[in-house]
Amino acid sequence: MNNFAPLQTDWSTGDTARRRDKYYAASQSRFVPFKDPIVFKRGSMQYLWDADDQKYIDLLGMNVCISVGHSHPKVVTAAMEQAETLTHCTTMFYHPTPAHLAEELAATMPRGPDWVVHFTNSGAEAIDLAMAMARTYTGNLDLLALRTAYHGPTSAAQSVTGIAAFRHPGMPGNVSFVPEPNQYRGIFGKGIDAYLNEIERTIASTTSGKVAGMLVESVQGYGGIIEMPPGYMSGAAERVRTAGGIYIADEVQSGFGRTGDHMWAFEADGVVPEIIVMAKGMGNGFPLGAVVAQKHIAEPMAEKFLFHTYGANPTSCAAGRAVLQIIQEDKVQENAKAVGAALLERLNDLKNRHQAIGDVRGRGLMLAIEMVKDRNTKEPDENVTAAVFEHCRDQRLILSKSGPHRSCLRMVPPMCLSLEDVDAVADGLDKAFSSLG
Ligand SMILES: Cc1ncc(COP(=O)(O)O)c(C=O)c1O
Repeated sequence: MNNFAPLQTDWSTGDTARRRDKYYAASQSRFVPFKDPIVFKRGSMQYLWDADDQKYIDLLGMNVCISVGHSHPKVVTAAMEQAETLTHCTTMFYHPTPAHLAEELAATMPRGPDWVVHFTNSGAEAIDLAMAMARTYTGNLDLLALRTAYHGPTSAAQSVTGIAAFRHPGMPGNVSFVPEPNQYRGIFGKGIDAYLNEIERTIASTTSGKVAGMLVESVQGYGGIIEMPPGYMSGAAERVRTAGGIYIADEVQSGFGRTGDHMWAFEADGVVPEIIVMAKGMGNGFPLGAVVAQKHIAEPMAEKFLFHTYGANPTSCAAGRAVLQIIQEDKVQENAKAVGAALLERLNDLKNRHQAIGDVRGRGLMLAIEMVKDRNTKEPDENVTAAVFEHCRDQRLILSKSGPHRSCLRMVPPMCLSLEDVDAVADGLDKAFSSLG
């Protein structure tokens, strides 16, 4: 070990950009936030430092993967200790770490059903598995999903994704989309009844009448932070169950206490899903995802061989156990609630002062600002969003452009964001909007 020559890393932004441009496939190299590249060298809790040692507040949490803080010492220690002992243990052999994590995750679920866990490496893999479970259990093929949903990049996950920019040609079918109950710009306006009726009409007209299930992000993330309004999730579950299907909650972005009120955002509506899909913040940056299902729903899958090579990897699962412990011990969910409420209040202030803002919304530390050309017509303003986003970089704020029209600035920071940070974020956003002239 001691004789190992350290690998040389060139930290210059220009050379990193050149290497990416030359050696990354277009499918990976084109996904960039800013006009000019940025290289991050270091992270600690809610902060990031670039290669020139400039400090930023991370409001994106590396796409919601950093739940409890960049390089959180407890997560790093747990993962390093496991990696040093046994980095990987294939699922056919027994290891206590994933078994403990499965038990601990099951304990976060609503009381009543027996819950079982299947670990994956990513959210999309877990979505694929949830789709297969729903079809296998029910014997039905048709699935329902929401417009403006994002469920991941694999073929199956793309097939239930309702934003054209994330869908490639030739994805599998047997998926019907229903309108998202967006209370700001949904096609049926405010309320839930028209959206729920549309589920029934869609089942009656575009499926065999029997469905495998419906996937719903309890709060849509890439759709631009669209909360499911009260009564929608339980109403949708009821209608889907009447047609023989099951209800699948995608908590990949909204889970792990992020919405402040609950560990899982579906709990806001009292619905008990048959399947819950999770990933991202679960490993605080270590690749880890899972399907948590009611035991009887997962049971028929035993008929076939199904193996995720890195599923239940003990290093990632050690990180996952530490995340759950930190959420409890550091009162992370409570912090998300208090700090999120304070930030939302400041965003509402900004809306009062900047005409470009059409809507501010969200819950806990899952928030968004939506930009419009005109508050009456609500025409989305992608250009202003991109301009504010670039100005935010000057203010050392990292956010993301989201929504089907890329007209939302999404905020999903590590959940250790503090009240002091809220002032810096609000002031920085104010300056960014004022720079528009
Ligand atoms: C709501 C939601 N579901 C599923 C996924 C897919 O997760 P992954 O990128 O880990 O495959 C994502 C990823 O962004 C997501 O936001």
